[in-house]
Amino acid sequence: MSTDDNGTPLLAARGLVKAHGKTQALRGAALELRAGEILAVTGASGSGKSTLLHCLAGIVRPDQGSVVYGQERLDQLPERRLSELRRTEFGVVFQFGQLIPELTALDNVALPLMLSGAGRREAQGKAGEWLERFGVRGQKDLRPGEMSGGQAQRVSLARALVTGPKVVFADEPTGALDSLAGEQVMTALVHTAREAGTAVLLITHDAQVAAYADREVWLRDGAVVSEHAQQEMAR
Ligand SMILES: Nc1ncnc2c1ncn2[C@@H]1O[C@H](COP(=O)(O)OP(=O)(O)OP(=O)(O)O)[C@@H](O)[C@H]1O
Ligand SMILES: [Mg+2]
Repeated sequence: MSTDDNGTPLLAARGLVKAHGKTQALRGAALELRAGEILAVTGASGSGKSTLLHCLAGIVRPDQGSVVYGQERLDQLPERRLSELRRTEFGVVFQFGQLIPELTALDNVALPLMLSGAGRREAQGKAGEWLERFGVRGQKDLRPGEMSGGQAQRVSLARALVTGPKVVFADEPTGALDSLAGEQVMTALVHTAREAGTAVLLITHDAQVAAYADREVWLRDGAVVSEHAQQEMAR
């Protein structure tokens, strides 16, 4: 997997078009993410942020346009390779949770490691450290139905980061947290990402959260408008 040594982006999307039934969610969205970069994506509700994230992470195939990750066209890859990438190189925090309801916090975080071949004891040890980083070690034996929304969100972040991915895609990772807890989670996420050189694509409504990013882009009606345009619109 090539990284950023010659200035090429790690991930590049061009001309993304995606419809959900009659709703045109993306209309020509384009975006680049460099290795180790923290990029915030903001925009009104319904502007296409989650759809964009799902296309970039190889979860949803765009109707038109390209997504290039390293040397590979994600929009054309077979499902088998996509799921391998999602398991090994990507970490995803979904807007609406997606922890496994039958598993405890600890086992939810340990699972991606075990799927990659780690033994249970080793995986649980590492999972415990990640729960600690996000301040939810005390909840390690709770199942998702027994956690608060904010606790579930922190467990989801731990699960996305535990495998040491190259890119983390986080959809409103602090949406269910109050501002102090949100700040702690963002600090832990940004600190970890910088330390490990992980690129982060961070969707948020919150200007304070976006301020943690290296760069911010704005999505409007399914297209990315430039940072400059965002300042123009704010006037
Ligand atoms: N599975 C779906 N079926 C039908 N319409 C969908 C589906 N997912 C998204 N949409 C529509 O596509 C548009 C973009 O949705 P998307 O979830 O990408 O927006 P968003 O920017 O993430 O919004 P929010 O900030 O509220 O999470 C919206 O109009 C939404 O109603
Ligand atoms: Mg969304």
